[in-house]
Amino acid sequence: MLVQAYNLMAHPFLLFLLFSCIISTNIHACKQTERSSLLSFASTLSSPPLNWTSLDCCRWKGITCDQDGWVTRLLLPSKGLKGVDLSSNHFFGAIPSSFFQQASNLTSFNVSNNTFTGYVPSSICLQHSSPFLRLLDFSSNVFSGNLAPGLGKCSKLQVFRAGHNNLSGLFPEDIYNATKLEEIALPLNSLHGAISDKIVNLTNLATLDLYYNHFGGELPLNLGKLSKLKFVNFDFNNLEGTLPPSLMNCTKLVELRLGSNNLEGDISMLDFSRLSQLTKLDLMMNNFTGAMKILMSCKSLHALLLSGSFVGEGMPSDDDMVDFHGFQNLRVLALESSNLTGQIPLWLSKLKNLEILCLSSNQITGPIPSWLGTLPRLFYIRLSDNRISGEFPKQLCRLPSLLYEPNIASQVDKYEFEFPLTSNSVSINANQTFPQQKLYFLPGWIDVSNNNISGYIPAEIGQLQLLRKLALDSNNFSGIIPDQISNLKNLEVLDLSTNHLSGIIPFIGES
Ligand SMILES: *[C@@H]1O[C@H](CO)[C@@H](O)[C@H](O)[C@H]1NC(C)=O
Ligand SMILES: *[C@@H]1O[C@H](CO)[C@@H](O)[C@H](O)[C@H]1NC(C)=O
Ligand SMILES: *[C@@H]1O[C@H](CO)[C@@H](O)[C@H](O)[C@H]1NC(C)=O
Ligand SMILES: *[C@@H]1O[C@H](CO)[C@@H](O)[C@H](O)[C@H]1NC(C)=O
Ligand SMILES: *[C@@H]1O[C@H](CO)[C@@H](O)[C@H](O)[C@H]1NC(C)=O
Ligand SMILES: *[C@@H]1O[C@H](CO)[C@@H](O)[C@H](O)[C@H]1NC(C)=O
Ligand SMILES: *[C@@H]1O[C@H](CO)[C@@H](O)[C@H](O)[C@H]1NC(C)=O
Ligand SMILES: *[C@@H]1O[C@H](CO)[C@@H](O)[C@H](O)[C@H]1NC(C)=O
Ligand SMILES: *[C@@H]1O[C@H](CO)[C@@H](O)[C@H](O)[C@H]1NC(C)=O
Ligand SMILES: *[C@@H]1O[C@H](CO)[C@@H](O)[C@H](O)[C@H]1NC(C)=O
Ligand SMILES: *[C@@H]1O[C@H](CO)[C@@H](O)[C@H](O)[C@H]1NC(C)=O
Ligand SMILES: *[C@@H]1O[C@H](CO)[C@@H](O)[C@H](O)[C@H]1NC(C)=O
Repeated sequence: MLVQAYNLMAHPFLLFLLFSCIISTNIHACKQTERSSLLSFASTLSSPPLNWTSLDCCRWKGITCDQDGWVTRLLLPSKGLKGVDLSSNHFFGAIPSSFFQQASNLTSFNVSNNTFTGYVPSSICLQHSSPFLRLLDFSSNVFSGNLAPGLGKCSKLQVFRAGHNNLSGLFPEDIYNATKLEEIALPLNSLHGAISDKIVNLTNLATLDLYYNHFGGELPLNLGKLSKLKFVNFDFNNLEGTLPPSLMNCTKLVELRLGSNNLEGDISMLDFSRLSQLTKLDLMMNNFTGAMKILMSCKSLHALLLSGSFVGEGMPSDDDMVDFHGFQNLRVLALESSNLTGQIPLWLSKLKNLEILCLSSNQITGPIPSWLGTLPRLFYIRLSDNRISGEFPKQLCRLPSLLYEPNIASQVDKYEFEFPLTSNSVSINANQTFPQQKLYFLPGWIDVSNNNISGYIPAEIGQLQLLRKLALDSNNFSGIIPDQISNLKNLEVLDLSTNHLSGIIPFIGES
């Protein structure tokens, strides 16, 4: 659909829309899809109801079809529209700024999830049009080019979203004048440049989501003045320098994601214990130093992603963790590609909520601890590419969350997790649909490949009914492959290669 401006002085707000719908063979008889599209649009209007009830939408008030049955215009004059929601349709074309000139009472405009092109009409608040605008959502379209100045004039604007487009250029400087802003979400674009310290002007800001862009430079020194910040996502950018100490003043932070940047420095200088609400911390793929034990005091943490960021520091030992009472809520721990040495430490056995443990690609020695099998929620274990030795513990074949079909309650309880887990899964691209996979969909998984594990594969392995991947390859396993593996009805991947096993690889699955 092509949206055009239609300026009629007498009318307070007028929408002129050209539909590029499926050509209908019956003149003046609209397709059912067209009708439902119009109805879903009408249901979102915060204005007096439209009398759109009859079957043929071409006869509805405000609708014009051409002689081929195309709906060519949608006119909604004198409706005093307050909210416009065209989200999740099949509209395309550009939205010229003049479109808003008569929209004097407009408070929200949501065109997310269409295929609009051209520039984001960011001069929407110029010339004192739309003085009440609070919410703008342009996300998930094909808008391109720069964000032109103008948003700074939107004195009531609280939410600005334009993520998942094709925007380039710098972060618009005048946005720092829109001091009512509570959310700025521009993820999945190609914006670049540094975020200016002027951002401290946006004292109401709670959400700053700039995930997957090309932002560089250092984080604003006084970012900590934004005391209402809750969600900060800078994953997959080019930020450099150290974390500003003021960040620890953002005590309301719930999520802090700084993964896959070029940040560095000794984070043990920072008092993370002040971030008492922090549930997700992603520092993955940076060059930080400072042992992770300093993060122990973050008692609310659910997800801690440190892969590839603390290379060569060593896993905090049990001695380091004697006074350890933190991490009670931890569900996800990713510490891959960090050149960790030593054994898997006993303090991990205190993490009774742990669901996901990723320790691949380190230098871990010693055995797989048998207590791993007692962690009640653990269902996803990656220990591949280490120097682990000893036998595969039978106790691991009793992992409670892999034994039975979980009941509905425990399924609902599974942790929702919408960002990449490990350094190996960073190959995302803008083609993917977002938000990404949730943890709920992560399969039961045991991967201990490429270690030095010896002895038999325990027959008890057949108890792990919910296992979807079992990778034991490139180890020193010997003996006969147990028949019980064929009990693993949910298994999708089985790799036993490069061992000293004999016998027949069992028939897997139901078909
Ligand atoms: C609604 O439209 C129908 C025709 O589609 C008409 O008969 C009816 O009077 C209209 N109702 C109002 C309240 O305008
Ligand atoms: C805008 O809202 C005001 C107050 O609610 C109302 O008096 C006025 O008629 C509205 N303007 C339009 C064009 O609907
Ligand atoms: C816009 O509409 C979509 C539904 O299509 C919704 O998910 C989104 O939250 C809305 N945007 C805002 C800012 O409310
Ligand atoms: C986007 O719109 C399509 C229909 O055009 C719908 O199927 C899909 O669920 C929408 N996606 C979101 C995230 O709202
Ligand atoms: C994205 O924007 C660039 C210029 O900024 C343009 O060359 C390219 O064609 C755009 N891609 C799409 C899919 O619109
Ligand atoms: C912000 O607004 C002030 C006036 O309130 C103006 O002088 C200044 O130029 C604006 N800043 C930007 C970056 O537009
Ligand atoms: C900060 O906001 C005030 C309005 O509250 C404005 O006058 C000032 O110019 C803004 N500063 C910057 C750097 O945008
Ligand atoms: C944190 O906030 C306190 C109180 O507002 C202030 O005194 C201190 O300087 C701030 N710290 C940093 C590093 O900005
Ligand atoms: C990481 O930071 C240290 C200093 O803290 C520096 O010596 C080293 O070169 C950095 N490594 C990379 C890959 O940037
Ligand atoms: C990993 O540790 C080994 C010694 O244990 C060292 O030789 C190697 O350079 C380290 N690699 C990195 C990338 O730090
Ligand atoms: C993205 O999708 C387009 C076509 O749909 C394809 O040509 C392109 O190679 C894809 N890019 C990546 C990085 O997968
Ligand atoms: C593998 O483990 C065996 C003992 O089971 C040991 O003799 C051997 O040295 C280990 N190999 C490596 C490369 O660590």
